[in-house]
Amino acid sequence: MRAVVCSELGGPDKLALKEIESPVVGPGQVKLAVHAASFNFLDTLIIRGLYQDRPDLPFVPGAEAAGRVVELGEGVTHLKPGQAAIALAGTGAFAEELVADARRVLPIPEGFSMKVAASFATAYGTSHYALAQQAGLKPGDTLLVLGAAGGVGLAAVELGRLMGATVIAAASSREKLDAAREAGASEFINYSEEDLRTRVKEITDGRGVDVVYDPVGAELAIPAVRSLAWGGRYLVIGFAGGGIPELPLNLLLLKGASAVGVFWGAWVQRDPAGAAASFRQLMSWLASGELRPNIRECYPLAEFEKGFISLQSRKAVGKVVLTVAD
Ligand SMILES: NC(=O)c1ccc[n+]([C@@H]2O[C@H](COP(=O)([O-])OP(=O)(O)OC[C@H]3O[C@@H](n4cnc5c(N)ncnc54)[C@H](OP(=O)(O)O)[C@@H]3O)[C@@H](O)[C@H]2O)c1
Repeated sequence: MRAVVCSELGGPDKLALKEIESPVVGPGQVKLAVHAASFNFLDTLIIRGLYQDRPDLPFVPGAEAAGRVVELGEGVTHLKPGQAAIALAGTGAFAEELVADARRVLPIPEGFSMKVAASFATAYGTSHYALAQQAGLKPGDTLLVLGAAGGVGLAAVELGRLMGATVIAAASSREKLDAAREAGASEFINYSEEDLRTRVKEITDGRGVDVVYDPVGAELAIPAVRSLAWGGRYLVIGFAGGGIPELPLNLLLLKGASAVGVFWGAWVQRDPAGAAASFRQLMSWLASGELRPNIRECYPLAEFEKGFISLQSRKAVGKVVLTVAD
């Protein structure tokens, strides 16, 4: 089978499309014929050895895919050969076939778009868990989303609006803010030109926001915490801006505020029932058209490098997809 192989840590230029042996299915595992896979920021880190999980070399990157079940390992009963499914595998998705732990493979309805299926679970799953469980977002709350046109950011904008919040989108370009407008944001901050805290004050008449969704960190983290209203919640999603910011705890004390960690992948493992309920809710919103995933870039497997470059150069809007089979 063809697969993108990482034999040396570094940028996407170190990766190569190769013909390799199809992976062997063990007990409790599932083999999927991949139809589509999507890029997540972690893919840009894992190939550089900068992610918390460091697979042994050589490995096939790609955390998330959709396709059809081709083989079931011993003890797997919740899937059938030929069934459409998604895999949240961590690695292995940028290939024609992948083997994953069966607990990370979920069936999807027939007729569901493989591109959408490959790209919605992490983005919407993370944002739904963050907003509903970790922030307790309520109708009428004001939600500030940083990196609002990225994979998880755009999902947070859509879900925030759907959950009844007023959404302030913050991003680095006009084009990105336009995407956030289409997803339901009603106020906009271009932080490459405007001061985040000043603009939040203006937009909220000095009150601040109830919830901050922050997948960027870096120099935006402290102004974002300072922009919280009394009792606000600051969601620590990720550090796409590089480095890990340090938070002066007095800011939380002064605002009666909380900083809340969000680690969706760990939550899915620790609370499978809660994660299944969240997944059902998201599937129902997708089926009814209340969520409309924004996929702007699709590349064939042979052009995998373009997907990595789109994310790492901060150009991507919404999700970037790799199409592997029809
Ligand atoms: N906690 C969890 O469970 C969880 C789950 C999924 C993802 N994440 C994290 O969330 C973050 C975003 O992931 P994603 O897959 O949505 O990525 P993405 O689609 O690439 O979005 C990242 C966003 O970060 C902003 N950004 C700021 N500085 C950047 C830089 N130097 N390089 C790239 N982007 C930069 C960009 O928006 P602007 O240009 O508008 O600033 C971009 O849209 C990552 O840190 C990821 O690890 C966490």
